[in-house]
Amino acid sequence: MGDAMEVDTPTVARLTAVAKGKAKITAPSKSVPWVEKYRPTSLADVAAHKDIIDTIDRLTGENRLPHLLLYGPPGTGKTSTILAVARKLYGSQFQNMILELNASDDRGIDVVRQQIQDFASTQSISFGAKGNVKLVILDEADAMTKDAQFALRRIIEKYTKNTRFCLICNYVSKIIPALQSRCTRFRFAPLSVENVTGRLQYIIREEGLDATESGLAAIVRLSNGDMRKALNVLQSTHMAYPHITEEAVYLCTGSPFPKDIEQIAYWLLNESFHKAVSCILSLLQILCDCHFVFNDFTLCFASLVIQITFLMNLKGSAKIEMEAET
Ligand SMILES: Nc1ncnc2c1ncn2[C@@H]1O[C@H](COP(=O)(O)OP(=O)(O)OP(=O)(O)O)[C@@H](O)[C@H]1O
Ligand SMILES: [Mg+2]
Repeated sequence: MGDAMEVDTPTVARLTAVAKGKAKITAPSKSVPWVEKYRPTSLADVAAHKDIIDTIDRLTGENRLPHLLLYGPPGTGKTSTILAVARKLYGSQFQNMILELNASDDRGIDVVRQQIQDFASTQSISFGAKGNVKLVILDEADAMTKDAQFALRRIIEKYTKNTRFCLICNYVSKIIPALQSRCTRFRFAPLSVENVTGRLQYIIREEGLDATESGLAAIVRLSNGDMRKALNVLQSTHMAYPHITEEAVYLCTGSPFPKDIEQIAYWLLNESFHKAVSCILSLLQILCDCHFVFNDFTLCFASLVIQITFLMNLKGSAKIEMEAET
């Protein structure tokens, strides 16, 4: 059996080396969740979504805020954005001028009729605040019942004069079309690698962390454009290990090392079926004993296969283009 056929023991060595005695318990004061500590307080702090932020900023500045529907995957800044808008509009009156409801509240038809109606129908008194309309934020609106959504249609129309509504959700398809058409829609896409990297670098500087480039890249890769996830991984790695390295990040999250996934792909593509299966099973056995989860491997492997297929297709089309040019 050649080198490539041997089970990749360096991973196991890494596991024990990093895990052995190097983990440290950080002082409780450092465990304040960074997702809250670094939640953008102003629109300028929101990373990415420049077009959306510019538009909302302009409309807020001109006091012409429409009803809003912010949607997109988790951790992309939807809630942070509307809270920053509210701070800009109301300043110190912030708490009096907004009603924030989320999925943990009762979202039945009674809440829509009573709580929102009570808030929206009272006179707004906003001394010194820019905005003279109130703001109802319905976070996680896709969890609202259909009846509640239908009831909201009327309420939005009835109180448009002195209230703006901002619906926030992950799945826009779960919002009834009648509500969608009453709002200006903004889609918050997953953050780009550059945006997540930039924001993490800022936090690493602020916190004085010792992070390697590959460690940072690993966090960005694992976050998949979810800034909340990126911050949580950064903080938990920092709490568990003195240095934020690639190994520490993968160990802390329990995610398979890319090197192991590539090794599995190599065996599958280059060795006979029986040899490949026996090597893969030995490797998985060792890794699962080290608390890695088998399902994570299948997910990572599926994503690698998709990447390989994509690259092969790309190569194919490049070849076709080159052939067409000559
Ligand atoms: N665009 C962003 N710029 C800076 N920080 C961000 C951004 N998006 C998310 N974050 C960070 O992630 C945390 C969660 O963001 P937020 O609550 O705004 O996400 P969300 O889009 O509302 O997610 P969900 O759909 O899960 O409610 C924030 O406290 C902030 O630290
Ligand atoms: Mg949110």
